[in-house]
Formats: sequence, structure tokens, C-alpha cells
Amino acid sequence: MNNFISVNDVTDINALVKKALAYKANPFKDRHLGDDKRIGLLFLNPSLRTRLSTQVAAKNLGMEAIVFNVDKEGWSLEFEEGAIMSGNTAEHVKDAAPILGNYFDILCIRTFPGLKNREDDYSEMYINQFIKYAGVPVISLESATLHPLQSFTDIITIQESWIKTAFTRKPKIVLSWAPHIKPLPQCVSNSFSQWVNAWGEAEFIITHPDGYQLAEQFTNGATITNNQDDALEGADFVYVKNWSTYTDYGKVYVNDPKWMLTNEKLKKSNQAKVMHCLPVRRNVELSDEILDGPHSLVTQEAGNRVWAAQAVIAEILEHIKK
Ligand code: CP
Repeated sequence: MNNFISVNDVTDINALVKKALAYKANPFKDRHLGDDKRIGLLFLNPSLRTRLSTQVAAKNLGMEAIVFNVDKEGWSLEFEEGAIMSGNTAEHVKDAAPILGNYFDILCIRTFPGLKNREDDYSEMYINQFIKYAGVPVISLESATLHPLQSFTDIITIQESWIKTAFTRKPKIVLSWAPHIKPLPQCVSNSFSQWVNAWGEAEFIITHPDGYQLAEQFTNGATITNNQDDALEGADFVYVKNWSTYTDYGKVYVNDPKWMLTNEKLKKSNQAKVMHCLPVRRNVELSDEILDGPHSLVTQEAGNRVWAAQAVIAEILEHIKK
């Protein structure tokens, strides 16, 4: 693995899950793999889980991890080629990225979308410019359209939870839109859809209000319905997430609390486990009764972020050492 930007960088999802679960069982088994190697974590947006789990994962592999909050502490970066920098940006990525590539063996970057111009966001210019100019492997810590470390974690969590059941059939996974007070990116939902489809070992249903369809390039292969009750029938896993509109880009059309998952709604499911990437707005996106009850996998899921990051960093270190 050279970069980790999407599921397309993974040759064998199940093998990578196995690697992550091996780290969960024995976190320090490769404690010297990253000796004398340094990983840089650049944040252009806030984070709790991604930032800390990636640092822990790197440390478990013997690496030094340095965090740089670019949005608060760095020069304001320009990404447009040929830009006349007479505005607010002070440093071009083509100047900054090669320097970061000198300082670090692996560069990790979080860049959220602006949610104003769909073509700009879906071109993934920010992360692609880092890949172009850094000269070292790049790991996405969530980009404009995808959140691959989260989605890999989600597949790990589903697999380890499903293994504990006696079922031999494929699990039924539902991605269920949830209300939110402001427009959020489509990254987590795009990425989750892309990973579940690529994994191919689940029945996959997406349910959302009319007008919230996601980009087909990620959902292709899933059944899509506006009827949440129908979707939840017999579900084994319900992945709850808000996203803003894709077609009429970045809007909030609906904030109907009826879309918030409750224990009552879950009665139709197969005692479904409920997932959410966090952070979550309690009693807006997800009810207290779900988050604090036996259906919730959210803490286990967030804990697994370490093992997902560790497996990915290890793959890249192994590639560098070849
Ligand atoms: N799920 C997730 O990416 O959490 P953070 O935004 O806190 O990193």
C-alpha cells in the first residue's frame, strides 16, 4: 500500500481486517516496525478520535507522531495551481508539501469539504495536491468526500460482532439518514457505502428522506428506499449518519425528528446493533435510549479506530521498507 485514500488502495479487505484484529489482540507485536520513522498528522479541521487513535497506533508501531493543527497554527494554505496569492492565503501547498515530505516518512491529512461547490469538493483537490507534492505516502484522515479509516473501522467492528452470532448468512446492514441541525459532509456515508459494497459480504440497504440520495459512484450496488421502517425490517446492523444533500449540493431539506432511531423502531430489526462514527448530537441524531442501551456499538467502534489505523500504517511501513 502506497497511499490510503479510499478502499481502492486495499487489495484484500478481509486480510486487512485480520491484520487489524491481530493488533487488537497483541498491540505491540510490531513495536519495532516504525523505529526511526516519523508520521505527521495535519489537521485543517477538528478531530478527537482520528487524531488520538492515529497517534496511539503510530506509537504502538514504534513511530514518533507529530500533530500540526494547520487551521489554527499554520499559514493559510493555497491549493489552486497558478493562483495569484494576493488574498488571504499565505503559502502554496506546492511549497509546503515537499517540506513536510522532508520532515516525515508518512503524512496524514484531514481536510473537510466546503459544501459550497460540489465539483470542487468532489475533485478532492486538497488531498490530491498533498499527494502530488509531498513525495511520501499520504493517509487520509477524512477528505472532502471520503473517510476511509472510519469505514475500515466499521467493517472491522461489523465483522467482529457478526462472528459472535451463530448466523452463517450474510448480515443485513442498513445505512439510515438521521436529522441534524446543520449541513454535514457526505464523507462518512459515501465511504461506508463504498466499503460495504467493495467488501461484498452483506445485504446493504440505504434509507433516507426524498432528496438525500448520495453519489451513485459510492452507493452503486445498494438497495435505496425512502421508507425507513421497511429498511429496518430484519436489520442486523444499523449505521446512523446525517448528511446534507448531494444533488442540490450542501443543503438541509428535512430535519424531521421521526427519522431519529429509537428502540421502538428497532423492534422490527433482528436485535440490530447500532453504529455511529461520532461525534453524535444526542436526541437529535440518535436517542439516549439507543446510545446508552444494549444495541449500541459506538464505543467499541471508536475503540477499533486504533487497530484500523495501526494496520494501515503497518502496511505502508512494510511498503516503504521493500
Ligand atoms: N469519527 C471521527 O472521525 O471522529 P473525529 O472527528 O473526532 O476524529
